Amino acid sequence: MITNTELHKKGNQFPSKIISCKKEVDTLYFNTDNGVILQLTVLRDSVLRFRYATETNFETDFSYAIDKDASRGYNFLTADENDEVYIVTTSKLICKIDKSDLRIVIYDALDNTIVLEEELGFHWEENYEKGGNIVKMSKVAQNGESYYGLGDKPVHSNLRGKRFENWATDSYAFGRNTDPIYKTIPFYIGLHHKKSYGIFFDNSFRSFFDFCDERRHITSFWAQGGEMNYYFIYGPKMNDVVASYSDLTGTPELPPLWALGYHQCKWSYFPESKVKEVAHKFRELKIPCDAIYLDIDYMEGFRCFTWNKEYFPNPKKMVKELSDDGFKTVVIIDPGIKIDKDYQVYQEGIENDYFCKRADGPNMKGKVWPGECNFPDYTNPNVRKWWSGLFKELISEIGVKGVWNDMNEPAVMEVPGKTFPDDVRHDYDGNPCSHRKAHNIYGMQMAKATYEGLKKYAYPKRPFVITRSAYSGTQRYTSTWTGDNVATWEHLWIANIQAQRMSLSGYSFAGSDIGGFAEQPTGELYTRWIQLGVFHPFCRTHSSGDHGEQEPWTFDEEVLNIVRKFIEIRYQFLPYLYTAFWRYINEGIPILKSLVLFDQDDQQTHNRTDEFIFGEKVLICPIIEPNAKGRRMYIPKGNWYNYWDDTKLVGGKETWVDADIDSMPIFIKEGAIIPKYPIQQYVGEKEIDELTLDVYYKKGREKSELFDDANDGYDYKKGRFSLRSFNLVGKKKELIIQQFKSGKYITSYKTFKMRLHGLPFNVTKIQVDNEEIAFEDVKVNGDNTIIISKEFTELHILEDS
Ligand code: GLC
Repeated sequence: MITNTELHKKGNQFPSKIISCKKEVDTLYFNTDNGVILQLTVLRDSVLRFRYATETNFETDFSYAIDKDASRGYNFLTADENDEVYIVTTSKLICKIDKSDLRIVIYDALDNTIVLEEELGFHWEENYEKGGNIVKMSKVAQNGESYYGLGDKPVHSNLRGKRFENWATDSYAFGRNTDPIYKTIPFYIGLHHKKSYGIFFDNSFRSFFDFCDERRHITSFWAQGGEMNYYFIYGPKMNDVVASYSDLTGTPELPPLWALGYHQCKWSYFPESKVKEVAHKFRELKIPCDAIYLDIDYMEGFRCFTWNKEYFPNPKKMVKELSDDGFKTVVIIDPGIKIDKDYQVYQEGIENDYFCKRADGPNMKGKVWPGECNFPDYTNPNVRKWWSGLFKELISEIGVKGVWNDMNEPAVMEVPGKTFPDDVRHDYDGNPCSHRKAHNIYGMQMAKATYEGLKKYAYPKRPFVITRSAYSGTQRYTSTWTGDNVATWEHLWIANIQAQRMSLSGYSFAGSDIGGFAEQPTGELYTRWIQLGVFHPFCRTHSSGDHGEQEPWTFDEEVLNIVRKFIEIRYQFLPYLYTAFWRYINEGIPILKSLVLFDQDDQQTHNRTDEFIFGEKVLICPIIEPNAKGRRMYIPKGNWYNYWDDTKLVGGKETWVDADIDSMPIFIKEGAIIPKYPIQQYVGEKEIDELTLDVYYKKGREKSELFDDANDGYDYKKGRFSLRSFNLVGKKKELIIQQFKSGKYITSYKTFKMRLHGLPFNVTKIQVDNEEIAFEDVKVNGDNTIIISKEFTELHILEDS
């Protein structure tokens, strides 16, 4: 293991004094006496990029992570200097570069306080064995600083006191603190003195992050090769840090709405009769479900893009029948291509030289499910194009709606390291390199190629892809799950942490294998897991199958009824979740908000792990222990309604909340307007002719939003969406709701059914757009329910005195 920051480590080299500074539009180049170059680019007033070269020149500037639409083109760059430092100032921050050693200190421009301060700063060690440098960076941890992010790490939300490695790894039955696992997202967030910033270390080599583990007040990161190349992102609000990181690395397009429904998966459902039996059972028992998955056994000898004709004699017919019943079929596709001269995909790969090669020439060979395989080099654009094309039959002919990419770390069985050896060669989009550099982005490029294939053949519908491995930026193409977890209570805690952490790391469309992949959950554990899972953006039960059944009806009647109830809740919340998704893709705002992101000024939130905000206004806290009748939880500041009985609670403290097995703590922020669908067995089962709005009275103001479009297709990009912003203003004896509309989409619903919660007065008068409305006309049903045209612009509900 390379250790990073010991001051006296033999071999560490440091920049010496700056001898020149050159400016080019948005970039400054600082040259030191000993040949180091710092390239400092201002991307926006809160985002700086730092890049270091130690030998006369930089590498080609190429990144898989950075989105092509990321903000750039800052043109207000000015640099001042005094005897000691160069000074770059933007409206948000001041960056000082020490003339004697290139060390950086960044200040908040408004109050001049330190945000980020280098300790040793950039330093490096020559890598005599492999060539290039081991590039290193160390910063001072500020008093009370806490750290978040880093993708899928299954550890406490605050990363302080720990060291991590980024090397995508197949991690069957990983546990709490296992590191590394499937994903590499080298982005973390620091928070101190109520200010938050992020660091994105865009280096795909094996990298390490140390948050005050090696030395108590030092945070450092380093990589085994490549460049020291990182982005500093200032908030000071954590929400803005994540939003700026999302601007840099991108967000996805909207998924088809069905992808936000419930998914059922197992390794494996086969033959066809079994798949249909499972699907029928969902309908028979009236448990909503939108997608059913086929794991590796649907293939002929695990050959990708083939079907086992004995199990699935007529896939097209089966997929069509499932589709007639509202089920979308999702199939698994792994990267390993079976070495079999009679197999067409293999033949094409060989003929066109599409497979990864060892350093001395032979194809990379390794064992996965089909036995000996070769592996496409997805870092080659021609290979990606070929791969995309392979989906034609599955998608356009057979009618499959989604593809599940697995084993793409890449995983190889029965070898040390469980992946390709370091010497394997990759094209890296025209920047040829070894596996040391390409490993962490291999899964991402596979998922990208899959996504492009689906996008092409599913058109004019939207594609749905799910991946196991990912690097920063993968969220642009695909959803993800957290890999092979275990049916234990500890894993329920992990699932909760991971989904929140992924969301904070710019990757909102994530979820866990509900119930656990390995081993078998008790009915109680499964129930508690479903309760959490329905509030994750990706919601799928999956299990390895060799430990028994894991469908909602395989436990007992009580479990079945509770599971149904919670999946129904998810279907009711769909327009709310879809709106949160839309905000995520547009503004980079995470769908799940850890409490620290929701209220970073409240110190109480900094080390919370269990509670989170779903979307903008719903507070969730799963029950993660057996035999619980409730739990203690922290209610963030503000006033909240208990979802189940509308009782009001004042936040800012820990509270016991009752939650027997058929319940869980759910709270709604006062002032919220939550859009809801009727219960459907699958998305699109019913034409929505009336939309429910649950309106939670608040004394004061609150804003809510509702986004609609055709739930699929790309018309929303041409303005055919409907966005409604609601302003709620609550007074002692009056509730006012104003509506602002934009977009060209005409929703199927014509009316809103408003359910008024917590009104502190008796309604005697209702005015819509300045006209008084007779009670009968708006159907006040004696239960504070109002039915009103969706076109209203201002609604007054009052008690006339
Ligand atoms: C891997 C996946 C798992 C899948 C299995 C068989 O273990 O993580 O989800 O079911 O492979 O394809």
